[in-house]
This record gives sequence, C-alpha cells and structure tokens, in this order.
Amino acid sequence: MKLTSTNELFDHYLQQKLDDKTATGTLRTLVHSNNAIDFSSNDYLGFAQSGLLTIDGEHSLTSGATGSRSITGNSLLAEETEQLIATFHNREAALIFNTGYMANVGLFSCIAAKGDTFISDEFIHASIIDGMRLSYANRLRFKHNDLADLEKKLQLATGKKIVIVESIYSMDGDAAPLIEMAELCKKNNALLIVDEAHATGLYGDKGNGLVCQYRLENEVYACIHTFGKAIGLHGAAITGSKVLRNFLINHARSFIYTTALPPHNYLQIQLAYQLLPSGKRKALHALVDYFREAIAVNKDITFIDSHSPIQGIMVGDNFATKALANHLIENGFFVRPILSPTVPVGKERIRICIHSFNTKEQIDGLVYSIVNSIFL
Ligand SMILES: Cc1ncc(COP(=O)(O)O)c(C=O)c1O
Repeated sequence: MKLTSTNELFDHYLQQKLDDKTATGTLRTLVHSNNAIDFSSNDYLGFAQSGLLTIDGEHSLTSGATGSRSITGNSLLAEETEQLIATFHNREAALIFNTGYMANVGLFSCIAAKGDTFISDEFIHASIIDGMRLSYANRLRFKHNDLADLEKKLQLATGKKIVIVESIYSMDGDAAPLIEMAELCKKNNALLIVDEAHATGLYGDKGNGLVCQYRLENEVYACIHTFGKAIGLHGAAITGSKVLRNFLINHARSFIYTTALPPHNYLQIQLAYQLLPSGKRKALHALVDYFREAIAVNKDITFIDSHSPIQGIMVGDNFATKALANHLIENGFFVRPILSPTVPVGKERIRICIHSFNTKEQIDGLVYSIVNSIFL
C-alpha cells in the first residue's frame, strides 16, 4: 500500500511505535470485565456498585459547573463539601480537584521553586512524577520504604525539602513507615506530603486514612484523598492548611484552568463521606487475611507481602503475566496484569484487589485457578 498524505504517513509512524510495544508485550488494550468476578477494581468497599451514591430527582442543580471554580464554577455546595472533608480528616482546609491525577499534577508543579528539592519514594505514582516534572525544583528518589536511604537523600537536598510518599502503595499494596518518616522529616526540617489514595476509606477509625490512624495530622503537611477508589466516585481533595488552600487556588494550574465538577458530584461526595464510617472495613480486612493464608499454603507462588486489599502474584515476565491474567479471566475472575515499564522489569505481576463484597468461595476459586495455572 502506497502512503501518500501526511496524515497517513504519520499514522504509519505511530503504528510502528505500537508494533514495537506489541513485540515487547507492553501494548495496552482496553478490556471489558464481562461480568467476571471483580478482583481488580479499586471499589474496595463496594460503594461504586452499591447504587447508594446515585442521586435521583435532583433538578435544582445545573447539570454542569458552567465554568472553572475561579469564574462561575464555585458554589456554597462545593465549599461546604470541602469543609466537611477537611473536618473528616482533622484538617483546617481542603480543596477539591477533578481527579487525583489533577490534584497531584497541580500540587507538585507549583509548591516548590528552583533550588528546592523533592525527595520521593522510587515507587511513587505517575501523577506525582508528572507534577514534579513540571516544577523547576530538583528531584531525588529514595529506595522504596528505605529510611536509611531517605536520610541520605535528605542530607543531599538543597532549599526547601519536600518528601512525598503514598501511605499504601498502589502496585505493591504495602504501607509506608509513616511514623518513622515523620520523625526523620522533623529532624531534617523537611515537609512530608502523603498520597492516601489507597488508604482513604480503608484505615482510621472512620475511614479517614492512615495519617489520622497514626495521629500524624500535625506532622504531615498535606494529604491527597482520591474519590475514585474506596469512595466509589470521581475527583480528589488536597487537605492541609487554609494558607495551602489559598495558594493552590492561585497557583495550581490543573485547578485554575479547567471546568469544575458538576454540582451533583458534591452531593454524592457528601453522601459518601457520611457512609464512610459504616463502610465494611473489618469484613474487608478479614477477607484479605483469608486470601493471604490461602495463597501462602502454596510454597511455589511468590506474592508480595502486603496486608492491604492490594495483593500481587509475582510472575516476572510480560508475556507470562498476560497469559496468567487471561487464564484467570477465562475462569471467570477479572484481574489485570501489571507489566513493565509500569513496574520494573522482572517484577511483572497480577494485581489482585480484594473487596468487602467478595466471598470466601470466590477467593477459594481464584486461588485454585492461580495454583492450577500452567503459566506460573
Ligand atoms: C497513589 C495514587 N495517586 C493518585 C492517583 C490518581 O487518582 P485518580 O484516578 O483520581 O486520577 C492514583 C490512581 O491510580 C493513585 O493510585
């Protein structure tokens, strides 16, 4: 086939890049769960599938925000929701962003200046990396959850030092040693910022996160709480001081230059926060223990040491990981393969998320299918 137009030639160039991905087993495609049992979504407490957050018959609100928060998209409803979130997480203030990705990009792109230093865990989420890349500050990485390496990097840092961690890591499901990190940051006059995306709703006596569970509200400068995971909705809040909130309203470009959330989203967020204290956390953590015990019986299977609902079966090769995921899907269990470069080469795995609505029988079936797979 002869390619003539500039558009066709460009598509051909893009297709070659995609073919390179196919050759290394890293091509991403979009899939449907087709009613398979959910062992993959971030709907840990079943809020999204429960129907409890659907708002019917609310006709007094506009369907869209009609503008950015700085122009026409602000409302009493938005501000009330932010105050409710701040109080829930024992903070002075909160600011809502349209997604967790936008919250992190907005925060980290504006909070540090040239000469300052970000120090982040090597497994930090892509949204934080993208935010830091948009800043003029220096960047240092410390080894995952390694306090000695963090201390080394703190000593190398210049200007204002900002340490960034996730309380529960999105791919490994393990927890950051937050208490020790907070002490280390204090000793080195560094700020500590914690992304609670996978801890919000799951930890703390009412689901307010690990920072609250450890009573570190005064030691941690700011937290990111996303609504797309245990909360079962969409959006995110950055919690911290009133000064930080005002600073973000003025400097976070992913907050300033975008249409705000539709008003009914704030009603749903308020509803979810009212439901969080009664979320089935205990049942969920009991199921996580059940899964861990069931999988640990099989000595040939390597799994990540995580006590959170995020569990990982290590496979260690893109093609074998995909084959195992397909095998599990064919057996009726919806799981996703996590491939390099999302995780380092050799650390490719099946990411399994346990939910409060899964049953022990479903977990037995999943473990049976993993153990009997020829792909491990
Ligand atoms: C740790 C972490 N932070 C931020 C985000 C982004 O959140 P959202 O999906 O709301 O954009 C995610 C989602 O994958 C995450 O895992």
